[in-house]
Amino acid sequence: MSATGGSRALTPPDIAARKGKAPLVCLTAYTTPVAKLVDGHCDVVLVGDSVGMVLHGMPSTLGVTLEMMILHGKAVRRGLHGALMIVDMPFGSYEESPTQAFRNAALVMAETGAAAVKLEGGECVAETIRFLTARGIPVMGHVGLTPQAVNAFGGYRIQGRGEDAERILRDATAVAEAGAFAVVLEKIPEALARLITEQVTIPTIGIGASSACDGQILVVDDMLGLFGAFRPSFVKRYAELGSAADAAIAAYASEVRERRFPALDHVFGDEPRTVSEVI
Ligand code: KIV
Repeated sequence: MSATGGSRALTPPDIAARKGKAPLVCLTAYTTPVAKLVDGHCDVVLVGDSVGMVLHGMPSTLGVTLEMMILHGKAVRRGLHGALMIVDMPFGSYEESPTQAFRNAALVMAETGAAAVKLEGGECVAETIRFLTARGIPVMGHVGLTPQAVNAFGGYRIQGRGEDAERILRDATAVAEAGAFAVVLEKIPEALARLITEQVTIPTIGIGASSACDGQILVVDDMLGLFGAFRPSFVKRYAELGSAADAAIAAYASEVRERRFPALDHVFGDEPRTVSEVI
């Protein structure tokens, strides 16, 4: 069952057809149990390269490899039934040439069962998106703040302010015209997100880009309060699972130290009468 009540998994054309309709609900997932949790609620589940920072403690997404994306993609696949699964192409796996991108994207799809991949970049990856989509690989674009370009941007700064807005509009348009079925808009001003959403023919999925977009995505560990390294201002925490886990682990530690755990309920308490009965 998909989040929209259908009996089959959503496809890239289903997502493209939602342009201007009910908002698309998207989250990241990196593991089978989390994929199972989000599947019934989401239209799209992204195996984001944010996995490097969120699960592997990396300082940025730049060290994420194709092997990591495939491993996490396989895990997520096992937990999904209705949502469309998209896997991020990691830094260095698609920028060199359209043929490099095709080879690696085809591998990701074959190994993980993902129905689509996501590439960061606008005009600079348009030719690659055209190459992939013409060969049966559905692509989601990602413009605005593209975290793989963090060094070029000099940090995770808002993009598209003032005259820079034109660049982001050109990027989103190029991605749409190249055949992407949807595009993520990350950390850009609301007015620009609204303009892009009005002008491009594919759904825009916002993260730090306002409710003017056709849908929203968040990193699941951010919205559950599980990722504490830093907290982007555009993230709303819907739960504080990190604090809840900390309190639970602290309770366990003190009960072990005070010999209050394991208690009778957690012990096989049959009374052996002689040593020979035990062994
Ligand atoms: O890697 C990721 O999780 C992403 C989303 C935040 C859009 O690219």
